[in-house]
Amino acid sequence: MANEFKNRIFSEMKNNPNENLRPQRGPKLYKLSDKVVNMLTDRLADEYVAHYFYRNAANWCGDMNYKKAAAFFTTEANNELQHAEGLQKYMVDFNIIPEIPSVDTVFNFNSLVEIIYGAYDLELDLMKAYNRDSQIILGEDIATFDFLTKYREGQRDSVVEYNDLINALDLIDRNDKFQVLYFEQTYF
Ligand SMILES: [Fe+2]
Repeated sequence: MANEFKNRIFSEMKNNPNENLRPQRGPKLYKLSDKVVNMLTDRLADEYVAHYFYRNAANWCGDMNYKKAAAFFTTEANNELQHAEGLQKYMVDFNIIPEIPSVDTVFNFNSLVEIIYGAYDLELDLMKAYNRDSQIILGEDIATFDFLTKYREGQRDSVVEYNDLINALDLIDRNDKFQVLYFEQTYF
């Protein structure tokens, strides 16, 4: 089979000596639209922001000796990197070399409660962004709409997860260190 292919290419080259081995012919390759690329690039920035937010949160929790929360946020940080990688792979698969946006990498925290509220806001904003993007492109790019399904579902799950943690915070006195530690031991 390989020989057959080689012979065919060689005979085509002999018949068309000026043609390259891989002639530029046939339909042009499909590329994502600029609109979709811009959307995906904005979300790529958001995923990297989320990564750095959780990375900083993990560091802060580790320093404070909230061991379970530190492990939890480390996993979150790694997941966000995978989300960012997935967006880039999708663009590359459709012949776009992603431009990686620069983002804020420094986040300062004063309490575990503050981290949880910050994470909730971040995940909620990202859920809204993926939903809005998906509605806009539904009529023009179904392939990307389908690709974003897992991102919409992931965001929904994250919002629910942090919503639950916030509800659990209502069960304790947030100013009582021992109760916050009990919260951390129970819910992370
Ligand atoms: Fe994410």
